[in-house]
Amino acid sequence: MIHHKDKNSRSLGVLILAAGEGTRMESTIPKVLHHVGGRPMLFYTLRLANALKPQAIGVVVGYEADRVKQAVSEITKDCGINRPTQYILQKKALGSGNAVLESIPFLKKFKTVVVLCGDTPLITYESLYALVHSHEEQKGQVTLLTARLANPKGYGRIVRTPLGEVQRIVEESVGSPKELAIQEVNSGAYCFELESLMQGLKEIGEKGPKKEHFLTDVLELIRLKGGKVNAYLSQVPEEVLGVNSRIQLSAAERIMNRRMLERLMLSGVTILDPQSTHVDADVEIGQDSVIYPGTILRGKTKIGKMCRVGPFTHMYDVQVGNECEIRMSQLDSCRVLEKSQIGPFANIRPESVIGPRARIGNFTEVKASRIGFGTKVNHLSYIGDAEIHEDVNIGAGTITCNYDGKAKHKTTIAAKAFVGSNVNLIAPVKIGRGAKIAAGSTVTEDVPDDALAIARARQVNKT
Ligand code: UD1
Ligand code: MG
Repeated sequence: MIHHKDKNSRSLGVLILAAGEGTRMESTIPKVLHHVGGRPMLFYTLRLANALKPQAIGVVVGYEADRVKQAVSEITKDCGINRPTQYILQKKALGSGNAVLESIPFLKKFKTVVVLCGDTPLITYESLYALVHSHEEQKGQVTLLTARLANPKGYGRIVRTPLGEVQRIVEESVGSPKELAIQEVNSGAYCFELESLMQGLKEIGEKGPKKEHFLTDVLELIRLKGGKVNAYLSQVPEEVLGVNSRIQLSAAERIMNRRMLERLMLSGVTILDPQSTHVDADVEIGQDSVIYPGTILRGKTKIGKMCRVGPFTHMYDVQVGNECEIRMSQLDSCRVLEKSQIGPFANIRPESVIGPRARIGNFTEVKASRIGFGTKVNHLSYIGDAEIHEDVNIGAGTITCNYDGKAKHKTTIAAKAFVGSNVNLIAPVKIGRGAKIAAGSTVTEDVPDDALAIARARQVNKT
C-alpha cells in the first residue's frame, strides 16, 4: 500500500505557459503560434514536454484560447504527442505566476512539476533532461535552467549569494543597474516540488509596470522558507533564447535553421552555402544530394539521394525521388519521381506527379497533372489537369486550355504522341497513342491513335 502510494507520489506533470498575448510581437496572431522552422513555436515545447514522458501535459491558454487549443490539438495529432493533454484557462493575463496559480487544480495530482514557456522553442531535450535529473539528484525544492549570455537584456537575472547559491531572480523591469549587469539568466524552464511551489505561489505579490505576478518571485519565497533552490547551467546558451519580438523571432529562426542544416550535413548532404539556404524542421534529404545557394525547402519536403537542387529553388511539401535535378524553380505539394529534371524557371503546382525520367523545362507551368516516364515538356508551356503518358514530346508553347470560364476539363495524351509547337489543346480532349499534332494547331476534337492532326489555317502568300 505504502509502496503503491510512494510510486504514485513520484509522478511528473508538465505545465506549458501559453496564455500571453505577446504584445511586443505587434501581431494579431498569438505569440506561441508564430512559426519557427515552419512550425508554431508551441510545437517545440509540446514535443519537449512529451519527451519527458510525464503523466500529463497541461497547457495554460488565455489570449485567443480557442486558436491556441486548435493548434495544440493539430500538433498533438500530427506529431505523435502521446501523453494526455489538458487545457487550463487563465482568465486574465496577470503574469506567469498567476498562470501557474490557476493551474493548481491540474498540478495537484503530481509530486514534481516541470514548467516551460511556450516562447522558448530552442531548449534542447538534453538540457531539459539534465535539469530534471539534477533536480532529482540534488533533492532541492526547485531547479531552474539558466544560461550565461553576453547580452542578458530582457531576461530575468539570477542573483546568487556570495557562496554561489541561487538567491532570487530579478526581472528586467524591476532590476537595479547592478543586478541587470548579471549575465546569468533564467530560461523560463523549471522543475518544482509541487508542495513548495503551491506554498510560494500563494504569497507572491504584484510587481512591475503591469502589476503582474512573477513566477520567478516564487524562488525567493521557497528559499526564505528553508527550501533549496538549484540551477542547472546550460552548455548551449543560445537555447534559452526567448521570443518576445520579431527580432528575437528571426534570431530563433536563424539558430533553428543552422541546427537543421548541420543535421543534414552530418547525415551526408552537401550544402554549398548554409547562409543562404533555408530548411524547415521536418525536411529530409538523402545522402550525397547537393543543395545550391538560395534554396528554400519548406514543410514536409523530402528529397532523395544524389539529387541536385538549386540554386534559387523554393519547395513546399514536395517529394523528390533519387537522382533528380531541380534548378531555379518553384514547386508546391507535388511529386517528382527519380531521374527527372526540372527547370530552370519551372512552376510545378499542387497534385502534379512528374516522371520518372521526365523533363520540365524553362517557363513551363504544370498544375494537377501527371507527366509520364521520359516525357518532355521543355519550353514555355501550360499543362493543367492533364494526363500525359510515357515518351510524349510536347513542343514549345503548347497550352492545355483547361478552363472554359465555368469548369476545368481534362486533357489526356497517350504514349509516344508528338505535339508540335504552339498547339492549343481545348479540353476535354484526348490525343491517341503515337498521334502527331501539327505546330500551330488548335485541337478541339479527339485525335485517334497514330493519326496526324492539322488544325490551322492554310498559309496564303499575297503580293
Ligand atoms: C519570462 C521570465 C524571465 C525569463 C524569460 C525567459 C517571468 C516573470 N519572467 O520573461 O525571468 O528570463 O521568461 O524567456 O516569468 N504567460 C502566461 N500568462 C501570463 C503571462 C505570461 O501564460 O499572464 C506565458 C507567456 O505566454 C509566455 C510565458 O508565460 O509563454 C512567459 O511570458 P513572457 O511575457 O514572455 O515573459 P518574459 O518577459 O519573456
Ligand atoms: Mg518570453
